Amino acid sequence: GRVAVALGGDSAEREVSLDSGRNVLEALRASGVDAHPVDGIPALLDALRAGHYARVFNILHGRGGEDGVLQGALDSLRVPYTGSGVLGSALAMDKIRTKQVWQARGLPTPRYLAFGRGEDIAGALRELGFPAIVKPSHEGSSVGITRVFTEADVPAAIELAARYDGELVIEQLIDGDELTVGILDGVALPSIRIVPKGAFYDYHAKYVAEDTQYLCPGLDGAAEADVRALALTAFLATGCSGWGRVDLMRDRAGRNYLLEVNTTPGMTSHSLVPKAAAQVGIDFRTLCWRILETSLA
Ligand code: DAL
Ligand code: MG
Repeated sequence: GRVAVALGGDSAEREVSLDSGRNVLEALRASGVDAHPVDGIPALLDALRAGHYARVFNILHGRGGEDGVLQGALDSLRVPYTGSGVLGSALAMDKIRTKQVWQARGLPTPRYLAFGRGEDIAGALRELGFPAIVKPSHEGSSVGITRVFTEADVPAAIELAARYDGELVIEQLIDGDELTVGILDGVALPSIRIVPKGAFYDYHAKYVAEDTQYLCPGLDGAAEADVRALALTAFLATGCSGWGRVDLMRDRAGRNYLLEVNTTPGMTSHSLVPKAAAQVGIDFRTLCWRILETSLA
């Protein structure tokens, strides 16, 4: 039957999703799939109720599409879709509660403070120490994120993050390498080590700059096997399934720290899951087909 490629939407990651979605659409069509773009959840639900589509390839990033809301609507309409279900999607979109689940399972994640807009965190902040990183709890693509090196940096960082979210997290900044592990159908792909030209893998380094370096596999031997196993365990611990991507940091002593899970990772020309898949011989077209197959389960 026909496949709706759900893209765009109205989250802060709209542009990224449009870019991802165009790539996915082209790849599915090249595989002979009768795929059509649908922008945003209201249009998607209308089209599904009218019986236009048999399944959904979900490539909406951020709130609404990646956070369980769409997944619940699709469950209630009995329409199959790619990626994680309601629980995994909702949990992964919430950085604070994701960390709480990992901590309960004894999985490593940087120390952090969770707080709301306007809350006095000065004392707790001194205990956490610097450098640190301030994030909105429910955003992606580094939107609203600032690194802070002294207490003086904190108010502006909080103000920025609070534009996106009422729940904020300030996390110990791990000095080391940024790693990411794509997950496809219950298997961890080779890790990628990200070496941005600037100090920080931010929105610009993610989608605009051409000088960010990506090393894949990111590590060797046992260290590579360990990070893949940790990422897969973390992914399953948050109730995720199908495909996704787990982001981590690795400190100078070789200790891994889990940062977050993305349940509809980017599929732009700069994105990471396609790079990791290519390393094991899965080209972009095959990757999209394999992700579509996760909706058959
Ligand atoms: N949130 C972006 C799309 C990613 O994780 O790739
Ligand atoms: Mg993310």
